[in-house]
Amino acid sequence: MTGSPEHIKGMVFNLDGVIVDTARYHYVAWKRLANQLGFDFSAGQHESLRGLSRMASLEKILEWGEIYMTEAEKLHWSDVKNNWYVELISSLRPGDVLPGALLFIRQAREAGLKIALASASKSARQVLHSTRLESYFDAVIDGNITRKAIPDPECFLLAARAIDLVPSECLVFEDSALGVMAALAGRFTVVGIGDPDYLPNAHLVIPGFEDLSCTSLLGRVNEAIFSHS
Ligand code: BG6
Repeated sequence: MTGSPEHIKGMVFNLDGVIVDTARYHYVAWKRLANQLGFDFSAGQHESLRGLSRMASLEKILEWGEIYMTEAEKLHWSDVKNNWYVELISSLRPGDVLPGALLFIRQAREAGLKIALASASKSARQVLHSTRLESYFDAVIDGNITRKAIPDPECFLLAARAIDLVPSECLVFEDSALGVMAALAGRFTVVGIGDPDYLPNAHLVIPGFEDLSCTSLLGRVNEAIFSHS
């Protein structure tokens, strides 16, 4: 059972593509790797990697380039890519937080909701630190903690547990179709961020947090749940 807004006591946010647009840095780093290996791929192809783990992303990219690698080579190249990525995100600043996200999180905290982060990225804490967002989160579950990648709901379940809530008491904010599936599998109420055509299973889809108040979002979730049932 998903929860009605009166029962919502916490919010679980994905990071990449929900709070900060880090996808463009992943794209630059993966593209550089592909180019070194002698091929290229499009921004559209990269979109399909949203939410995938580092290794799953590399395997997909190698498939596009029709390149075979041993497990040891894959580990080497995923490290190389990660070093480039980490260097790129070192330039992140508070101004890189997506429009409206900080205000929205502040309002949710003021309303007494607990706030958690659930990210597949091992660099999530670095991103939170550079954008000065760390103190807004009661719990951070990142790729260093999780063992199972989405569509397994592990990261969301761990995040809910870390803020002492059960899934029906939490809203998950997620930008990838795979992440929405994972949160639904964990029996969370899910707000998709982005294009409704790509996130048909979310309870509600919003373009982002700009000009969105926490109260109006909870009202819209309420309406969406009623129209689903
Ligand atoms: C997800 C991103 O949040 O984290 C993926 O959407 C990325 O693109 C994954 O591959 C793992 O991130 P990292 O930083 O540990 O390679």
